[in-house]
Amino acid sequence: MKFRINSVLPAVAAAALIVGAGAASAEDTVKIGLIVPLTGGQASTGKQIDNAIKMYQQQNGATVGGKKVEVIVKDDAAVPDNTKRLAQELIVNDKVNIIAGFGVTPAALAAAPLATQAKIPEVVMAAGTSIITEKSPYIVRTSFTLAQSSTIMGDWAAKNGIKKVAALVSDYAPGADALNFFKQHFTAGGGEIVEESKVPLANPDFAPFLQRIRDLNPDTAFIYFPGTQAGIFAKQFAERGLAKSGIRIIGPGDLTDDDELNNMGDQMLGIVTAHQYSALHDSPMNREFVAAFKKANNFRPNFITLGGYDGMHVIYEALKKTGGATDGDKLIAAMKGTSWESPRGPISIDPDTRDIIQNVYIRKVERVDGELYNVEFATFDAVKDPVKAGSKM
Ligand code: PHB
Repeated sequence: MKFRINSVLPAVAAAALIVGAGAASAEDTVKIGLIVPLTGGQASTGKQIDNAIKMYQQQNGATVGGKKVEVIVKDDAAVPDNTKRLAQELIVNDKVNIIAGFGVTPAALAAAPLATQAKIPEVVMAAGTSIITEKSPYIVRTSFTLAQSSTIMGDWAAKNGIKKVAALVSDYAPGADALNFFKQHFTAGGGEIVEESKVPLANPDFAPFLQRIRDLNPDTAFIYFPGTQAGIFAKQFAERGLAKSGIRIIGPGDLTDDDELNNMGDQMLGIVTAHQYSALHDSPMNREFVAAFKKANNFRPNFITLGGYDGMHVIYEALKKTGGATDGDKLIAAMKGTSWESPRGPISIDPDTRDIIQNVYIRKVERVDGELYNVEFATFDAVKDPVKAGSKM
């Protein structure tokens, strides 16, 4: 086995890695280093993924392919410097066989060179910028891409009578993907973008931007920000009178995150989004999944939960195929092409790109049995990430 020592890991740490990699493969335990934000603005992501993984192991056992699966959880607070340090520690000291989690794009990117160097899988369970999977041949994604949902939203909007859109997105990579891909598809279908605004990711203040949209009075506003900012948005959205202005709101489904939606208030009613998961997704498997998750945790699963739950499934299936062997190249080969029924619907790992292929649903916020939900009313089957599928933007 050859290891290349480069500047990513100090030489001493890299030497420890060489020793560690051999030692771990002889043991009876598969170690997964789970790096997620459990504190800070993205803490909901860590909470959902951590609980999803616990539930997966309760349902499927803690042993697979003859090996015990141990999950070591670390909180990076969604700060990429933390992610990198924690990934190094997990690889070098804990000798993990797989790193997983990654609540935001910068965290997933920070870990990519380490996965490549250690030749271990990086299972991305939450981050959504298209480029991520191209940063290491050891990355497999079970979350989603903003391009997947936003291209579909653009096509749907152009075909459903929407003509003039003001766009408002978070000012970082997923926001840029959401805006660019929506715009490309919406304008190709004859729509016009009348305004593009970017809100800082840290401490966002949507109010001035919402006021500007109100003044411009387009027929529709396209809005993206990470789900955990939903509460701030909902409050300012109501305060600026947008809800009663007649301006329609659309976006990728991060905007109406199931984890937050029920607390956001009736001003969210009628918002149409495109996304891969709703807690109300109508299948027997999802009904069972939601009931079990609520029973265990007292809150709803959201789209992030599924990234963690399905991420564990990919890992378990790969270990079954390798008979418990933890060689990174073998695990990645085993993960490619995996296809299964998830609570979100049928999904698979694209064997060419290692990215997720999944249905994208068009949904509308409605009150169902006293709670706010995203009610799905149209389905786009087996959507690939448009970047790697070679579509125009
Ligand atoms: C990301 O940083 O990639 C990200 C985070 C939260 C989302 C979507 C994308 O809801």
